[in-house]
Amino acid sequence: MRKQIAAANWKMNLTYQQGEKLLDEILHEKHALGAQQQVIFAVPYPYLIMAKSEVANEQNYFVAAQNCHHKKSGAYTGEIAVDMLKSIGIPYCVIGHSERREYFNESNQELAAKLDLLLEQEIQPIFCCGEPLSVREAGNQNEFVEIQLKESLFHLSATQLTKVVIAYEPIWAIGTGKTASSAQAQEMHAFIRSVLSKQYGAEVADSVSILYGGSVKAANADELFSQPDVDGGLVGGASLQSAEFIAIIKALKK
Ligand code: 13P
Repeated sequence: MRKQIAAANWKMNLTYQQGEKLLDEILHEKHALGAQQQVIFAVPYPYLIMAKSEVANEQNYFVAAQNCHHKKSGAYTGEIAVDMLKSIGIPYCVIGHSERREYFNESNQELAAKLDLLLEQEIQPIFCCGEPLSVREAGNQNEFVEIQLKESLFHLSATQLTKVVIAYEPIWAIGTGKTASSAQAQEMHAFIRSVLSKQYGAEVADSVSILYGGSVKAANADELFSQPDVDGGLVGGASLQSAEFIAIIKALKK
């Protein structure tokens, strides 16, 4: 079975002390993960080393950066390079979150460059895609997401693609309390897998974990994760509360 992943995206929330306490509470639960299950904490850059040491003795718990720059290094004040993440041993990096696409104008082409740098350094990308409300209302969500996938991912080899985790996050469901129904999530995840399958073949497409993001919480995680093509979640708000996130971890497919 492909990996089943509960990924927390803290975004720009929590102080260092609050973050440390939250991790302590979640890890104190000592929830043992199955061989195919993973938990990933995408924390703000200044907390990466702390979070990494918190999970160091836990099987299948990892940390992720929330972003990286698309250039290797240079005069980009305030930015974080992939090589920097590599040098502190970060195994995952979220890229292409809709907030970055929208507020920082990140393009599919820049994301393609980030993917190359990450894969070169053997950091696994968590690549986000998903449509805004206007596109969903017009019924064009499949075409929209297909272009995001094609323009950012399709230059990768099949071997490289197997290292990528995809997160489908419909923008209209992020932070709105409005979740895609499990049927809507399943439909899009199956579509994403079919797009990958056409390009890379069914075996490769079947091996890629596709997470759902957008108002995942303890109350809906079971139903969402039980869908055959939903391999876990990328969780914002509910990942900031230990009891909520622990319940979400427990909802992962066995
Ligand atoms: P919410 O879970 O707060 O809707 O956020 C989803 C998200 O953007 C995760 O990356």
